[in-house]
Amino acid sequence: MKARQIRPDVYWVGAVDWDRRLFDALIPLPDGTSYNAYLVKGGEKVALIDTVDPAMTDILLTYLKDVPVIDYVIANHGEQDHSGSIPNVLEKYPGARVVTTPKGKDILSALLPVPDDRFITVSDGDTLSLGNRTFEFIHAPWVHWPETMLTYLREERILFSCDLFGSHLATSDLFVNDEGQYYESAKRYYAEIMMPFHTSIDKHLERLGGYEIDIIAPSHGPLHDKPSFIMQAYRSWVSGPPENTVVLPYVSMHGSTLEMVNYLAGALIDRGVTVKRFDLTVTDIGKLAMALVDAPTLVIGTPTVLVGPHPDVAHAAFLANALRPGLQFISIIGSYGWGSRAVEQLQGMIPNIKAEILNPVMCKGQPGEQEFRSLDSLATAIAEKHKEHGFS
Ligand code: FEO
Repeated sequence: MKARQIRPDVYWVGAVDWDRRLFDALIPLPDGTSYNAYLVKGGEKVALIDTVDPAMTDILLTYLKDVPVIDYVIANHGEQDHSGSIPNVLEKYPGARVVTTPKGKDILSALLPVPDDRFITVSDGDTLSLGNRTFEFIHAPWVHWPETMLTYLREERILFSCDLFGSHLATSDLFVNDEGQYYESAKRYYAEIMMPFHTSIDKHLERLGGYEIDIIAPSHGPLHDKPSFIMQAYRSWVSGPPENTVVLPYVSMHGSTLEMVNYLAGALIDRGVTVKRFDLTVTDIGKLAMALVDAPTLVIGTPTVLVGPHPDVAHAAFLANALRPGLQFISIIGSYGWGSRAVEQLQGMIPNIKAEILNPVMCKGQPGEQEFRSLDSLATAIAEKHKEHGFS
């Protein structure tokens, strides 16, 4: 395949990973992904922006086969899916220097065999000229890692946004084409990767409002030639009002917890609350993460295993804690045979979530009238809280 032209002298030279199904040995990739690298040929100098995952170095080098000189390798982010091929590029181009933030240098030096004298570090707002093309570097910590930066190509108004505004979506489209399909991939990506940093992203979005941007070129998934679509989506995910929704992940071993989940879901629906439920033994955790973006309330359903929560529930709680969604209310429902510390243990697993705990409902054996009344009370409390806060 040939390098794909984005604008005059600006090319996509990345790799589409159609078959990858897991990222960071954790995140499901139902639609694959891509590692986007970009080549910018200026009047005097040539720059490569990011590289590709080491598993796909050969593809990048194929694109660079007829490129005699690269002067700069701009490393917006140190994670190996973008930086992993830097050593190969530096080997091919002995005069090339890696341009990155000071923290980026620190991280890249730890991860890759790049000698000290091959780095150029740039401060926030620094510029770099290629002759007739000028880059401006925008430090944007925590659009995944602390060293991340964005690179703005002034003359073409292209923002090379690193992981920000990306998607895990393998596609032959260079630009976002099917907005419906894209929206789901981008939201899943936001939920799994960006949500823990929503406060930082909010500030970056405000700053980017001061730039004229025709194209956003992220490091995963298709590019945006209508940037307002993804910018508006991010604004709503980062700081939009919560929906009138309860996320209800659960595991049931012998049916008691399932009976409670079914009852609570029905009671919530009767009260006008949307329910998103997930059987954690089979669910894709990306779907659960996406549901947490907009929901103010989480109710976890668990049976008791050796006095604690089911391990699949513990895994989901740990993940929710790490993703730091903007939850405002939490409760726990479930069952036990002879005794349980599941509620206390689960509460101890989610210290990052500063939400009000609504009365848990735990049941010995099968649920009966008393538990159903408690579940009704929980549903009423949730519906009233949502109404008070104006969630709709
Ligand atoms: Fe796509 Fe944080 O690397």
